[in-house]
Amino acid sequence: MSTKFVCQECHKEYSLDQPIWRCSCGGLLELRSKVKKFRVVDEDRSLWRYRELLPIKDQSAIVTLGEGMTPLLKQKLGGHQVYVKLEFLSPTGSYKDRGAAVMLSKIREWGIKQIVEDSSGNAGAAIAAYAAAAGIECEIYLPAETSAGKIKQIRAYGSKVVKVSGNRDATSSAVMEKASSVYYASHSWNPLFFEGTKTMAYELWEQLGGISPEIIILPVGNGTMLLGAYLGFRDLLELEMIPGLPRFIAIQSAHCTPVYAEFNSLPDKVVTPTVAEGISVGNPVRKRDIVEAVRATAGVVLTVGDEDVLHGVEELAKQGIYVEPTSGTVAAGFYQALRKGMIPAKANVVLPLTGSGLKKG
Ligand SMILES: Cc1ncc(COP(=O)(O)O)c(C=O)c1O
Ligand SMILES: [Zn+2]
Repeated sequence: MSTKFVCQECHKEYSLDQPIWRCSCGGLLELRSKVKKFRVVDEDRSLWRYRELLPIKDQSAIVTLGEGMTPLLKQKLGGHQVYVKLEFLSPTGSYKDRGAAVMLSKIREWGIKQIVEDSSGNAGAAIAAYAAAAGIECEIYLPAETSAGKIKQIRAYGSKVVKVSGNRDATSSAVMEKASSVYYASHSWNPLFFEGTKTMAYELWEQLGGISPEIIILPVGNGTMLLGAYLGFRDLLELEMIPGLPRFIAIQSAHCTPVYAEFNSLPDKVVTPTVAEGISVGNPVRKRDIVEAVRATAGVVLTVGDEDVLHGVEELAKQGIYVEPTSGTVAAGFYQALRKGMIPAKANVVLPLTGSGLKKG
């Protein structure tokens, strides 16, 4: 078996023909595959151009809405030239479409007809859209406070919405009960989701002309973008296509700091409401992996306050780029890293801009 699910706790292995999302011992699964030389399918202008590195056997099962290959622009921020990757131009308005496309394709390949998911909004919208495209029945659990625009979007795709009062973590607990009877298409638990988000790394490599960024600034809640980027760049490293990993500057909200606290061995984390709703995750299930990934890149974890986040949104909007507050964390994190001397003058820096500003209303 060259591609398999492996449990992080008991190391049990499962074939990819088994429709599972966690180990029978309750442990988190990883997807392991031997990275082989691959051909980019150049005529495909979506992330499926990397299909040889994606875990779908039956190509007719692929569910696509044209996700991936988002633009990479050169911008000036704080007097420094950076690249911004416009992930919010994805079909449902966030980078979560990468994970949803690959996960729903596998779910369709397995013949599953009904799924459940919990989300702060964007992952729910992405999974609802791809479930609709695949003809799969879908139910999304959300914190009651989720932006109205995101709830409206999820309902529009035909998914059932269950609002849970309390914070994001209360939603995660509520969905677990349902997940005992319906397949849990979770963006945080399910390793297939990360198979989709890893494609951003391959794209960056292509769009930068066959090199890696030196620094990449990543917002972190559950770590689907960060861990996906880590998997993707690690593949490129194993294939000797890049000489080393880019440095990860991971950004958390100063109001929700589990990864920051763990990384810096602080006794307590902060978990209070923040404008950065997408990364308001008090207990990320893959926290250990996130910290290990940041360390493996010689990276750091920074926190940004809400005022700085909103300032980041404004600065991007002044350049014609309209993102949601969660994405403003990346601009705020960049300014802070610049002030702290973490950005060398000529460094090749990428800021993925994850979510659209249009979903608020
Ligand atoms: C717009 C936006 N950016 C970033 C993130 C962070 O993603 P993750 O929780 O996977 O770290 C999210 C998650 O919902 C999001 O919606
Ligand atoms: Zn196990």
